[in-house]
Amino acid sequence: MFGVGVVKIIHLVGARPQFIKLAPLLGKLKGDEILVHSGQHYDYSMSKIFFDTLGIREPDYHLGVGSGSHAEQAGRIMVEFEKVCIKEKPTLIIIYGDCNTTLAGALVGSKLHIPVAHVEAGVRSYDKKMPEEINRVTADHCSTFLLAPTQTAVENLKKEGITKNVYNVGDLMYETYLNQKGDDKIIRDLGLDEFFLATLHRPSNVDNKERLQMFFNELSEIATTVVLPLHPRTKKMIEQLQINTGTVKLIKPVGYLSMKALECAAKLIITDSGGVQKEAYYAKTPAIVLRDTTEWPELLGKGTVLLMDFLKIKQTVSEILSEDISFDEELFGDGKASEEIVRIFQ
Ligand code: UD1
Ligand code: UDP
Repeated sequence: MFGVGVVKIIHLVGARPQFIKLAPLLGKLKGDEILVHSGQHYDYSMSKIFFDTLGIREPDYHLGVGSGSHAEQAGRIMVEFEKVCIKEKPTLIIIYGDCNTTLAGALVGSKLHIPVAHVEAGVRSYDKKMPEEINRVTADHCSTFLLAPTQTAVENLKKEGITKNVYNVGDLMYETYLNQKGDDKIIRDLGLDEFFLATLHRPSNVDNKERLQMFFNELSEIATTVVLPLHPRTKKMIEQLQINTGTVKLIKPVGYLSMKALECAAKLIITDSGGVQKEAYYAKTPAIVLRDTTEWPELLGKGTVLLMDFLKIKQTVSEILSEDISFDEELFGDGKASEEIVRIFQ
């Protein structure tokens, strides 16, 4: 693909879901691979735990940008990442998903005329109020190689006039899921028997006092134990907005192996996460997604329902648990996305 000469590839990651997507691909490509961590996520439980438990090596560069407004965060990543690119002169930059780190990498690479490959290209929720949607669209339009996870994503790109260098490689997150064995120590440690798993971190849900309180009120009325690994944004908002979290069992964010075990053992998942809604399907666990759109429409009617009205959570739980759901369809490829990507860049 690159012809003769030294091939140097930079992987740029920085947020929790990106480490999970990176894990199966890092170290498999032909040429030198450089790993750059933007520092968007920095707590041990949001960053290092994934390097340790998924066997990801230490980054070659850590940009240490930390938190901030969208412009501050993306801007700082751009400034620091540009320096790395000018020094290293990569022949390819790989960016992952839809975070501010993804956006910054796409802008820096394309402006320096370095080819950019976007993992999870073409994924759309068609909701421009989601910061991630802006990041996805911009990243795709700046990228040279579009590594789509599904045929829907390929079609979405076509609608935007992007047809060159588009590859349906399947879903790297599914590959990680298949590669990793869940560790159910957490289930024993927490003394869990029958339980539901919840996660919530989207600004549209957690930055609004009324919605956030309503969420905890509804979950507290469910007879089954609800376990919720708390995203730091949500923790901050619970404290700031003085939310009563009721009977929900709050725990620190967990590593991927514990998360997989929780997802597999839970009777039901309640989430607003992009990744967790897919993992619910892989784990054959029904899911309620607390949003009015999804970037993974493949899941709808297949054990996943969207729900915006938090006052209907309890009722929806009973409805979904009484359904007979099949999880047998292969919606996200065959779990060999990294092989496909290696083949493209060999
Ligand atoms: C980011 C992504 C989102 C993704 C999520 C995964 C963007 C625009 N958003 O959202 O798409 O779903 O990551 O988890 O890129 N914080 C800490 N410690 C950390 C990281 C964050 O305390 O290690 C707190 C800070 O108060 C920070 C807040 O969480 O302001 C939000 O972090 P940020 O990275 O800006 O966005 P996320 O909500 O994590
Ligand atoms: N995850 C995790 N521990 C947690 C919560 C989530 O390992 O405490 C994993 C989860 O299994 C999935 C990914 O993080 O692989 C999803 O990230 P998140 O929900 O933060 O972001 P999104 O997918 O919505 O962008």
